[in-house]
Amino acid sequence: MIQVSHLTKSYAQHQAVRGISFEVAKGEIVGFLGPNGAGKTTTLRMLTGYLPPTSGTASIAGYDIFRESIAARRKIGYMPENVPLYDDMRVREYIEYRAKIKGLRGSDIKRRVAEVIDTCGLEAMKKRMIKTLSKGYRQRVGLADALVHDPELLILDEPTNGLDPNQIRQIRELIKRLGESHTILVSTHILHEVEMTCQRVIIIDSGKIRASDSPQQLIAKMRAAGRIFVEVAGDADVVAAAISRIDHIKKVRSEDLGEGWHRYHVLCESGKDVREPIAQLVSQYGWPLRSIYRDDPTLEDVFVEMTRKD
Ligand SMILES: Nc1ncnc2c1ncn2[C@@H]1O[C@H](COP(=O)(O)OP(=O)(O)O)[C@@H](O)[C@H]1O
Ligand SMILES: [Mg+2]
Repeated sequence: MIQVSHLTKSYAQHQAVRGISFEVAKGEIVGFLGPNGAGKTTTLRMLTGYLPPTSGTASIAGYDIFRESIAARRKIGYMPENVPLYDDMRVREYIEYRAKIKGLRGSDIKRRVAEVIDTCGLEAMKKRMIKTLSKGYRQRVGLADALVHDPELLILDEPTNGLDPNQIRQIRELIKRLGESHTILVSTHILHEVEMTCQRVIIIDSGKIRASDSPQQLIAKMRAAGRIFVEVAGDADVVAAAISRIDHIKKVRSEDLGEGWHRYHVLCESGKDVREPIAQLVSQYGWPLRSIYRDDPTLEDVFVEMTRKD
């Protein structure tokens, strides 16, 4: 459904997207996950034909998004990061207006508008002025707009951004339901979102793709590598450097726990248990040690591991 090849975007001197390639198959729900400034919006705007790339190509359902942009766009329902709505229009009137802009004609307009109002739970709001709607309902109007021309593919840019927990849950349920009959690429900087809704996660950071796998597989890869936590008091740089000199250790990261204590996140080669050599080292230096344990990683660990800057 989506094919992206070596896509790059530079703003003046700054490369926001750096030669990314990925595919999304028909029927998949894919999370596009990355911290703020990672390049998510820039990528999605290129995919939806709103922003020309500096280099590289992308196609939607076989149509090149730049050379065959009208055919490609017909396949896409795009909900941008800040949904631009006309505040002084009523909900149904606005969706009808959008349907006309997207080329729907005659009885198709009324039929599709009624369908998307139903799908997005807007029945009770259809006569309300858009400016009187809550943020959650505004997002639903944005979704209704994205859906009205009956696209196969939905591209949603941070659809739960700025919503309260209740609204987030409702939008998440709606996206899951839409996923039964659509291909979906949904961006977020919130990890929990992708764990709940997506079959696959593409992690992007500083304009590059760091990983692409199911949430379960990403976690399994981390587990295979092995992760140990050690809580030691002392100079973080000195302790981390000493631990990282032990055999089979790949990475050490420190987390400040306050009052002189640090928790060291130690990543080691798969099948190696380095708890004992770490305990020996710590006692050799006489650093206070209060705990050392193995733990199963979460998707959050995977994300931090793949996107941290140091
Ligand atoms: N119109 C623009 N002009 C200059 N720089 C931009 C513009 N839009 C985004 N950027 C920069 O490009 C990078 C990626 O931004 P963006 O795609 O919005 O990231 P995300 O959606 O992941 O938060 C950021 O460093 C951002 O500051
Ligand atoms: Mg963004």
